Amino acid sequence: MSALLIASITELCQADHQGQPEALGRWLANKTPDGVRGFFANPDNRLFVAEADGEMAAVGGCNTAREIILNYVAPAHRFSGASTALLAAMEAALGPGEATLSSTLTALRFYLRRGWSESGALERYAGMIAYPMRKQL
Ligand SMILES: CC(C)(COP(=O)(O)OP(=O)(O)OC[C@H]1O[C@@H](n2cnc3c(N)ncnc32)[C@H](O)[C@@H]1OP(=O)(O)O)[C@@H](O)C(=O)NCCC(=O)NCCS
Repeated sequence: MSALLIASITELCQADHQGQPEALGRWLANKTPDGVRGFFANPDNRLFVAEADGEMAAVGGCNTAREIILNYVAPAHRFSGASTALLAAMEAALGPGEATLSSTLTALRFYLRRGWSESGALERYAGMIAYPMRKQL
């Protein structure tokens, strides 16, 4: 899961981090194996993987605050429907009610097309911009 998260951010989210070491360093800091153990250790989190052809194709997560906290596809599985399936599974797990997430620029169009809307002021994060979004599930 750590390797997938690091590859997805490094290779697919160039529009966000633009290769800036400070941005990448902050973003990847909790995506190490220990960081992933930390996600699992928090009882408020629920983690998900999408599999394709016996490989891990995407990693996702949500929490009891009804926030999508992770949604990353392996570069080799991009545009194969993995994130669509993963997001649908997380939305179903959350159940009816409002859910929130903080989108990358990379994924903004993906979320807009899946019924999410922008919800307030942009957030600055290590020189990048995050897009707060919400959806009534
Ligand atoms: C954009 C992204 C989230 C889509 O995930 P995916 O598994 O490749 O997507 P799927 O195959 O399930 O769906 C394809 C969707 O990607 C989006 N898409 C297509 N081409 C795209 C492109 N060149 N750039 C960005 N998004 C594109 C579209 O929304 C498309 O579906 P639609 O045409 O029905 O709207 C993924 O490719 C990605 O770049 N992830 C990087 C990590 C990230 O930013 N995660 C979100 C953290 S909040």
